[in-house]
Amino acid sequence: MKIGIDKIGFFAPHMYVETSDLAVARGVEPEKFTIGIGQERMAVAPKSQDAVSLAANAAQTILTDEDKQAIDYIIFATETGVDHSKAASTYIHDLLGINPYARAVEVKQACYSATAGLQTARGHIALNPDSKVLVLGSDISRYGLNTAGEITQGAGAVAFVVAKDPRVMAIEPTSVYKTEEAMDFWRPLYSETAFVQGKFSVDQYINFFDDLLQRYQEKTGLHLSDFHALLFHLPYTKMGLKALRAAVEDANEADRERLLNNFNISKHYNAIVGNIYTGSLYLSLLSLIENSQTLQAGDRIGLFSYGSGSVGEFFTGVMVTGFQDHLNTATHETMLKNRQAISVADYEAIFNDKAPVGQVSFEIDTTTDPAPFVFTGVKDHMRQYKHQA
Ligand code: HMG
Repeated sequence: MKIGIDKIGFFAPHMYVETSDLAVARGVEPEKFTIGIGQERMAVAPKSQDAVSLAANAAQTILTDEDKQAIDYIIFATETGVDHSKAASTYIHDLLGINPYARAVEVKQACYSATAGLQTARGHIALNPDSKVLVLGSDISRYGLNTAGEITQGAGAVAFVVAKDPRVMAIEPTSVYKTEEAMDFWRPLYSETAFVQGKFSVDQYINFFDDLLQRYQEKTGLHLSDFHALLFHLPYTKMGLKALRAAVEDANEADRERLLNNFNISKHYNAIVGNIYTGSLYLSLLSLIENSQTLQAGDRIGLFSYGSGSVGEFFTGVMVTGFQDHLNTATHETMLKNRQAISVADYEAIFNDKAPVGQVSFEIDTTTDPAPFVFTGVKDHMRQYKHQA
């Protein structure tokens, strides 16, 4: 039985900063951000968007009433959780009207956890072939104003349905994964911004990729020529490019050219949204499958998932016949095109205007947020959401 991604959608908030404007404000050359880091725009989340509302907005674009009845498991991957106890997926279950006889959990391991969600979903479908699993990866990445990590911030969510006989991409059974405790990036419970040892995190990422790709090749006997594209978790697009360049250094020209060209297509959405942590690898997948002119049914794609701390996995998917007919490319293009550019001063004001922490009740003005699902505030310590469209 083939199991894999049956549908996939994403959502980014309606505001962004041009990274060249941010560079000027921070006194660095714009090319450092646009070429050296490889980011063009950075999504900015208003106070009325959190990990839950972003995920609800991503999921509502792909789910039919039939899906909502068939889904019996919601796996919500995030490192921007809104509660230490209650899973973010319970809100999604309610907001989207999913079948009551469903499991709803939240999973965490930095940017890796949506891949844990995907692999868990595969196992669930193998045991329950007629059900469907909704996997969500949703985050707001915050390092702080004027920090080295600031340029690698972003916000957004990816949602995908895992099912048998998938209509987009079948996941192949073999994958390789590893864990190694490391303090390359972390966010303690008391901090709203991440702590990071930037250069160490880059080395850790590259070492994981090299090790896992080699192990995968030894295990399967596959070579670079067997892949149409290699996709990466993209904290910033130069990160994936660095890893890929090292991997194709000794490859023949055709493989090198194909993999570098397809990487360029796969980084497009990430370059104009930023790091969305758990959803990042799947945003890159979307960018490739929605924008490639050469991708065909039967093409194999390699996917590298990495989450600081650290857990990584290399696995593969094969495109399914007719996958082009099951994409929401126009919706995503329109959403991205309709976003508003804001000034660095406005971004800084939004960054500093945080929802109050620990206040019994408060309301958030949602009138300027065009998103269908919004976070409206807290009432008696209970978070409130609204579907406003
Ligand atoms: P930095 O100190 O700004 O970097 O920090 P830099 O000075 O090394 O410059 C970056 C690149 O810009 C260099 O290129 C420069 O040469 C180039 P590279 O050596 O990398 O090829 N550059 C220029 N290029 C063109 N024109 C110019 C110019 N000037 C310089 N004028 C760093 C960069 C990524 C470390 C920082 O932004 C950071 O700490 N970011 C956050 C951590 C991060 O994203 N790490 C990635 C791996 S860990 C990961 O992926 C997990 C994560 O997503 C979290 C999770 O799992 O939850 C982060």
